[in-house]
This record gives sequence, structure tokens and C-alpha cells, in this order.
Amino acid sequence: MQTNDFVNKVAIVTGATGGIGEAIVADLAAQGCAVFAVGRNAQKLAELSQKHQGLAGPIQWVSEDLVQAQAPSRVVKGVLAWKGALNILVNCAGATKRGDFETLSDEDALDGFQLKLHAAVRLCREAWGPLCETQGSIINIGGVGAHTPSWEFTIGGPVNSALHHFGKALAERGIEKNVRINTIHPGFIETERLGKIIAKVQAELDCSVDEAKETVRNRLGVQRFGQPADVAHMVTFLCSNKAAYINGAAINVDGGYTRGL
Ligand SMILES: NC(=O)c1ccc[n+]([C@@H]2O[C@H](COP(=O)([O-])OP(=O)(O)OC[C@H]3O[C@@H](n4cnc5c(N)ncnc54)[C@H](OP(=O)(O)O)[C@@H]3O)[C@@H](O)[C@H]2O)c1
Repeated sequence: MQTNDFVNKVAIVTGATGGIGEAIVADLAAQGCAVFAVGRNAQKLAELSQKHQGLAGPIQWVSEDLVQAQAPSRVVKGVLAWKGALNILVNCAGATKRGDFETLSDEDALDGFQLKLHAAVRLCREAWGPLCETQGSIINIGGVGAHTPSWEFTIGGPVNSALHHFGKALAERGIEKNVRINTIHPGFIETERLGKIIAKVQAELDCSVDEAKETVRNRLGVQRFGQPADVAHMVTFLCSNKAAYINGAAINVDGGYTRGL
């Protein structure tokens, strides 16, 4: 999708050093959007600033640990100091631990909620005033675990449900202010996170990576794994003028994995 909707627009994207977040940064910048790309790992940020040079929109790569309570405020102040306005906030940072619930600790759960829910809520709060000024848009990246519980995903599933719930609630406020808030639930996307699931199956079955991939794909019942760009394209669409009447939606980008309504 190529559009002029993003020229002179400014976005914050968190989780920018990960597979999905990086793809979102690149897709928005390719449309001419200025992107304030927030990750944590300084080496990855330096590598990505080289890799994504020369796109239509400028990218500012920023390191912040978003579990620190003051980090969201610094991020929003930083983007306003950089470009003077904010049109788009994409909350993509997230890292929730998988495993049998009996082995997951309180700390694991708190870590998952701290980053993916509380940091996103804080960023929404800090960004709300600037987004009301520009009649902007928020995208929260949840995950299909929000709809489809799994015994191995008892932290990520509840976190994604909570983020979905929060986004829906904020969308009601957004009606009055002309700010749109939508949630995207990715399915199984080929990033480092999926690599860990495949490595676990490979170890369990003592098979090749390709065989483990095929096993996982079959268990999920999808034709292929998703690519980060599949999610990024949906973000770009939802932030464009073509999606001007979409507010409070939660959209699966999962190749049909979610069987429930
Ligand atoms: N991949 C999937 O199949 C899938 C499916 C459903 C939902 N999702 C969701 O999509 C989002 C992105 O997933 P992904 O697979 O692209 O993840 P990823 O490759 O693991 O990347 C996670 C991102 O979050 C950042 N991050 C982690 N801890 C942070 C912290 N304390 N402060 C700031 N940033 C932090 C990481 O930054 P550093 O690496 O720089 O620390 C990285 O940029 C996540 O919210 C995930 O739950 C993914």
C-alpha cells in the first residue's frame, strides 16, 4: 500500500529492535512517516540504524527500558522534542515467558504485565494529549493468546486479553477526541520468539529444524507461519485514512489460526 497519508506524520514504535516492531518501523518510514523507534539493546539499535537508512521518512533509534516507570514520559518528551508533534503510537514491545503454569513464578507474571500492559498504558497516558491535538491513532499489538488460551501461555494470554480490553475502553474516549485505538492480534510470526518454540519441539522430537517447523505448523493448523511484514501492513493500513472509521477493533493477523469467534 503506497499512500501520501504519512507524509509529515510522526510515530512512536516500541519493540523496534524485534521482528514485528522492526517491520512496523520500516513500513511506516517507507511511507514517509518520521519514526521514533524504541528498543533496548544498544547494539541492535546501532545495526538497525545502518540497515534502514535511506527510507522516505527519518528514523530516530532510541534506547529505553520501558519497564521503568518514567521511561514512557521520556519517550513522549523525546519525540516531541524531535518533531514537535505525534500522530501515531504503536505499542509493540512485549516479552512474556512461556511454560507450564506450575513452573512460572510471580516475578515472571509481573515482568510480563510490567512491559506489555503497564508500559503500554503509561505510553497511552503520556501520548494522549499530543494524539488528541493531531487526531491521531494508537495501535496495540496483542496476540492470539488473547482469544485462545493455552496451558503453556498463562502469562501472555491474560496480558494480551488485558491489553485488548484496555484498548477497547480507550476507544470509547477516542470517539469524542477523534483518536482511534485498535488492537492487532498476531498469530505465529517468524521472529526469534517463534524460533524458541521450534527449538523446543526440535529438542523434544530430536529432529531437524525443518521437521520441527513442519510439526509446529501442522499443530497450529495454518498454511504457513506469518511474516513480520504481514503484521506491519495491517498497522500501516489501520493508521491510514482508509481506516478512518475503524476504532476499537481487534483484528487477528493469524492466517486463520483462531477458530473461535
Ligand atoms: N512473534 C510472534 O509470533 C508473536 C505472536 C503474537 C504476539 N506477538 C507480540 O508481538 C510483539 C513483538 O513480538 P516479536 O516476536 O517481534 O518480539 P521480539 O522479537 O522478542 O521483540 C521484542 C521487542 O520488545 C523489546 N523489549 C523487550 N523488553 C523490553 C523492555 N524492558 N523495554 C523496552 N523494550 C523491550 C525488545 O527490545 P530489545 O531486544 O532491544 O531488548 C524487542 O524490540 C510482542 O508484544 C509479542 O508479544 C508476537
